[in-house]
Amino acid sequence: MPVISFASSKGGAGKTTSAIILATELAQGTDVILIDADPAGRLTRWSRLQALPARTALVTSGGERSIQDEIATARTKATFVIVDLEGSASRLTSFAISESDLVIIPSGDEQQDADEAVETLAQIAMEGRARRRDIPAAILFARTNAAVKSKLEKHINGQLRSAVRVFDTELNRRTAFASLHNAGGGLRQLDRGDVNGIDKAIVNAQAFACEVIDMLEEMRHAQTA
Ligand SMILES: Nc1ncnc2c1ncn2[C@@H]1O[C@H](COP(=O)(O)OP(=O)(O)OP(=O)(O)O)[C@@H](O)[C@H]1O
Ligand SMILES: [Mg+2]
Repeated sequence: MPVISFASSKGGAGKTTSAIILATELAQGTDVILIDADPAGRLTRWSRLQALPARTALVTSGGERSIQDEIATARTKATFVIVDLEGSASRLTSFAISESDLVIIPSGDEQQDADEAVETLAQIAMEGRARRRDIPAAILFARTNAAVKSKLEKHINGQLRSAVRVFDTELNRRTAFASLHNAGGGLRQLDRGDVNGIDKAIVNAQAFACEVIDMLEEMRHAQTA
């Protein structure tokens, strides 16, 4: 079943947060395995804060020697496998990317973020060339303002969209998303007394998950066509 990795050469781009959002959203309807392939273990830390949401399981990777087996096993067990990677190039990252059906690169909409995201795309393309297969990848704007964008943000956003594959949906900067790291679980497990804007965050997360499913479906058709 499809393996979706979150990668970016830039640290703090929103990989772990976006991986949690996608996994817990997809788990509303099917089985999902999250693989923590970042030695910093942020996803594992999140998983211990409270019981994992239904239909979600977490595997902490043993590292570069075992990641390919961990992914292969997870594929047989769940409908979606989501891999959280570290924010720098490594053999572990490269092995995970080469096993992925889709690599998602979170990026902010400042020029430096956009440059880093394009660089990560280039690294993924190189990985694909080495493996003699096309590794589909797309940029996800994350931690962006939900309200109005500045002229510069709009410009950078538009430039990137015209050049490479970018998700229409942005995972905006939202307290509810950031709170997942403190509370554990998914958006539906957050305490409504503590956290504002949960419903808007859920709508945002759902739109993202739908787009991921559509993109995988499109790629499947393209492969069989
Ligand atoms: N959409 C968002 N809304 C609000 N806060 C966010 C969002 N995405 C990420 N953050 C916050 O930004 C910080 C960095 O995010 P995250 O840990 O997801 O990045 P990362 O790419 O996994 O970082 P690293 O490279 O260190 O693993 C976290 O504190 C997180 O709470
Ligand atoms: Mg992370």
